[in-house]
Amino acid sequence: MRRAKISVIGAGNVGATCAHWAASKELGDVVLVDIPDKVGVAQGKALDLACCGPIERFDANVIGTSDYKDVAGSDVIILTAGIPRKPGMSRDDLIQTNVRIVKSVSEQIAEYAPESVVIVVSNPLDAMVYTAWKATGFPTNRILGQAGVLDVARFRTFIAMELGCSVEDVSALLLGGHGDDMVPLPRYTSIHGIPVSQLLPQETINACVERAKVGGGEIVKLMGTSAYYAPASASVQMAEAIIKDKKRILPCAAYCDSEFGVGGYFVGVPCVLGSGGMEKVLQIDLDAGEKKLFEESVSHVKDLVKVVQDAFPELK
Ligand code: APR
Repeated sequence: MRRAKISVIGAGNVGATCAHWAASKELGDVVLVDIPDKVGVAQGKALDLACCGPIERFDANVIGTSDYKDVAGSDVIILTAGIPRKPGMSRDDLIQTNVRIVKSVSEQIAEYAPESVVIVVSNPLDAMVYTAWKATGFPTNRILGQAGVLDVARFRTFIAMELGCSVEDVSALLLGGHGDDMVPLPRYTSIHGIPVSQLLPQETINACVERAKVGGGEIVKLMGTSAYYAPASASVQMAEAIIKDKKRILPCAAYCDSEFGVGGYFVGVPCVLGSGGMEKVLQIDLDAGEKKLFEESVSHVKDLVKVVQDAFPELK
């Protein structure tokens, strides 16, 4: 059987951690790519990780490179290249720099790995997914953004902390963009099938919603740069669903046209992930309050895309 291949673009905090999770889960061979100035970092991290194989018991070739020819034949590409937030910055503050980076990386992906599924992680996520879509020219099913899995994981973690229960038993859903106006859905949150509203008071649920929304910012404040363990873990869960054709239902930034009445933007929705990438968006019912919050979040996504289009007309 042919081993799968995962390329991770950007060998920084998120990228190297993605490589770590992907290798330790034995998802396939891993290629860690960075700019020529940092090729030594990519190669050093790859070699260090490869030497974990005998201890952690995984067989995977792990290489570091700055040559995009090495990503040829990748099944999945996780795109983490870009600058992260510093304290006091919003994700949107990164837009000009990261569009340039994501555009140039995407063009290389299109040239060397034209059949891959791309999972975008760079921020501001909703604008970067759009950029990767336009710059690769890939069909919409092979472009995804990682946001929902992470945001939901944070929400699940905070609910479990409040209940003192296992995080595994908390199931939740979230919609919208990857900003502070994301829309966690307590109505679709349950603890082993029991609606969360039966187990926690509304104020506590609201506090968990608010903490999940600014969960990334809480970490930036604490450590001076953006999170990487959970963002990488979330990205690799998506990659695993695709590589193993698991048909997992995960919240991802996926292209929605008629779905949820979005009209042609990538936004966070529940979707089925399998070997075809994003195979289906699952439509769910929203009540009036949820719909209003979702529309506000989508309108923020549209504003971000407009910033990209105005600054980079070639990406229209
Ligand atoms: N090609 C490949 N790698 C690049 C390129 C490029 N054109 N431009 C920058 N990089 C690399 C940088 O050299 C750096 O090693 O991307 C890496 C980014 O790593 P970090 O600075 O550690 O940032 P990280 O915390 O990993 O965040 C990366 O993910 O979650 C988002 O907001 C976050 O946008 C940020 C991205």
